[in-house]
Amino acid sequence: MNLEFLLNSFGERFGRSPRVFSAPGRVNLIGEHTDYNDGFVLPMALDRRTYVAAAPRTDGQIRCFSTAFPNEVLFALNPNLAPAHDWANHIRGVAACLLQDEFTLQGADLLIASDVPMGAGLSSSASLEVALGFALLTLANQPVDLVDLALTCQRAEQQFTGTQCGVMDQYIACLGIAGHALLIDCRNLEYRAVPLDLRQARVVVVNSQVKHDLATSAYNQRRAECEDGVRRLRGHLPDIQALRDVELEAFDHWAEALPDIVRRRCNHVITENARTLAAVEALEQHDLNRFGQMMFASHESLRHDYEVSCRELDLLVEIASQQPGVFGARMTGGGFGGCTVNLVAVGEVENFTNAITQEFEKQMGKQPACYVCQASDGVHEER
Ligand code: GLA
Repeated sequence: MNLEFLLNSFGERFGRSPRVFSAPGRVNLIGEHTDYNDGFVLPMALDRRTYVAAAPRTDGQIRCFSTAFPNEVLFALNPNLAPAHDWANHIRGVAACLLQDEFTLQGADLLIASDVPMGAGLSSSASLEVALGFALLTLANQPVDLVDLALTCQRAEQQFTGTQCGVMDQYIACLGIAGHALLIDCRNLEYRAVPLDLRQARVVVVNSQVKHDLATSAYNQRRAECEDGVRRLRGHLPDIQALRDVELEAFDHWAEALPDIVRRRCNHVITENARTLAAVEALEQHDLNRFGQMMFASHESLRHDYEVSCRELDLLVEIASQQPGVFGARMTGGGFGGCTVNLVAVGEVENFTNAITQEFEKQMGKQPACYVCQASDGVHEER
């Protein structure tokens, strides 16, 4: 991102200079659709970020521009702001939720710019929410607790988009650490930083460039099916609060009594939690082959049991699995389009991106986009 350009554009629009804040998008290495089941996830913060240039106003208004949209949006700060169908919906959401949390905010002039691809399942909206929340709190001299900020931004996403998302995306945008993935326990909201030793391999994200409809309703439906599973399993296992609490053996014992769909959804979540912990162990032992096996197994489970993959993602994983130097590949994020994440041996990255681009284009008639990623830091003020 060209910060000079951002500062100049802000100056031209608003006639003064701003402070600049930024937060990253994310790629999840493993642990998919586990966060809202109190489970484990292993995301890293991307080296692609959303930038919020901001200067305070004294009239309680938010006036915002984005480099991605032509129109200005202006509104007054108010805890009862309602969702609106424009690009600034997330901005209203975060402002309203911070006010509901009884923070005192000041109005602001804002200019937003981002190099996180939008609608690609790389959490561009979480990066905007978190950068903006951090900016509004800092401008108003309010204390920032990063876990609380993540929870507020998650609530904004839920209330203003209708997706009953978990906390992973906002959490990693707040707390990401350069050079590390975070093993997040989505129940107690603590993390363990897991070093990504990239001497041998790179994390390569491949964007299918497709986004299928119904992602929001299908996501909420999956969440409801998991909750249904917990209610039914509680008849046999009265102490469980969430699928996180169900041991694989106990599940195998009671699974047959569940309706087919609920059984498969639960099976994904319970095995995915186990895979995520096993993957972390493999990473800590520098065993990339085993880590990669967990990635492939995660994809199969998301495809068959959780049913959140699609033809394009399956094809990308299949092509990846046939390339030399690929340790593992899987869809990443909510699914129904978006991206895959691939762990590729350093010396094979170029071959990999060429081969997957060509083969995907041959079969689907469109090119995917490839990003070789570094794990970066969470939200901060740019100096
Ligand atoms: C989306 C949600 C996250 C998480 C993933 C699936 O990215 O925002 O909370 O549930 O899907 O793992």
